[in-house]
Amino acid sequence: MKSPFDELRIGSLTARNSFVRAATAESLAMPSGRPTEELLGKYVELAEGGVGTIITGYAYVTVDGKPSEGALGIYDDAFADDYRRFADCVHAHGARLVLQLVYGGSKSKVAPDDPRRLASAAQAPSNGMPNVQIAGPSPLENPKTHLVPVEATYDDLARISHAFGRAAARAQAYGFDGVEIHAAHGYLLSQFLSPRFNVREDEYGGTLENRARLALECVHAAREATDPDFPILVKVNSCDDLDDPAGAQGSLGEDESARVCTWLIDAGASAIDVSGDWHAIRSRDIKGDPFFARFGARLASELDVPVIVTGGWRRFDLIEEHLAADGIAAVALCRPFICEPGLVNRWLSGDTTPSICTGCGRCAQQAGIPCILRQ
Ligand SMILES: Cc1cc2nc3c(=O)[nH]c(=O)nc-3n(C[C@H](O)[C@H](O)[C@H](O)COP(=O)(O)O)c2cc1C
Repeated sequence: MKSPFDELRIGSLTARNSFVRAATAESLAMPSGRPTEELLGKYVELAEGGVGTIITGYAYVTVDGKPSEGALGIYDDAFADDYRRFADCVHAHGARLVLQLVYGGSKSKVAPDDPRRLASAAQAPSNGMPNVQIAGPSPLENPKTHLVPVEATYDDLARISHAFGRAAARAQAYGFDGVEIHAAHGYLLSQFLSPRFNVREDEYGGTLENRARLALECVHAAREATDPDFPILVKVNSCDDLDDPAGAQGSLGEDESARVCTWLIDAGASAIDVSGDWHAIRSRDIKGDPFFARFGARLASELDVPVIVTGGWRRFDLIEEHLAADGIAAVALCRPFICEPGLVNRWLSGDTTPSICTGCGRCAQQAGIPCILRQ
């Protein structure tokens, strides 16, 4: 029976407890993607607050993959010293640090020709498409951003998977304890998996095997570029549409997602991080069971790697129950740690009243992710 204060083990990573800070874009990096002192301060605060493992906000692996203003960049070696210091400082406070890797695609909130994206391009002129076009599976307008991506060529796809591999190698060299490949929430890898965004008729579209190909190639590239026990986590959607978990209306369904997870593991993934339809959950008030606990338990029973379940955890008693009963390895929390970075230490001290986070999602609307409830 697993308890929240038991260690978490994933490959070469051993963390002091099973609380993970879910990937959270704090929007505090410089326009080039360089990490800042202010961001480092947030990580130190979280590590001091008792979190076992911190997953960074998403870091873009190529300039054209920049998902939002203030996101971290990991597209070349320019920020090596900054990242090394991040890893050292977090380790000095007893926590582990995992770098999340992303290619934003048409979900990007930064237009292709936005001067702030070009600031990253100036930093890495040889990286990314020359005219900073945004790649996607198919040239379909994204309903959230209205961006129409360029249909990725085979060369683009090879460049992107190679960039995930290079980014993972950098993370390992800089002292990170692992990487997490972002294949959820409608960013590029998630779009490839989704029949709604991916209408290609070549070997990257159509069947589930084909739609999963790019994600598998990215995981494979990361595995090839790092040590065999270096943790490669993959964040996946349980399904794309919480109103259609079976995928009956043409979105990625739970059974498909579970099959993809087995292939991700064959390709080299060390752990699966379960999330899902972010747009449905982002403003949901959190009273009852966490969003993806049921699917997480299913995956834990079917997969032979650690399963992390992200989203909706507010109550210590529920965390205890699910860790004890579901076979999952860890729980990941995002907004509760924005409200209260010292939440784990509070719970450890015996005050197990729930997080005060209501899940209003307003933190996501401003750089620096301020919480209206934080005292
Ligand atoms: C401000 C903010 C930034 C986020 N940034 C990321 C991110 O960079 N990568 C990611 O995978 N998810 C990101 N998420 C989603 C969270 O990791 C998590 O999946 C979601 O908030 C649900 O968990 P919660 O109920 O504990 O907040 C973000 C969420 C918020 C509120």
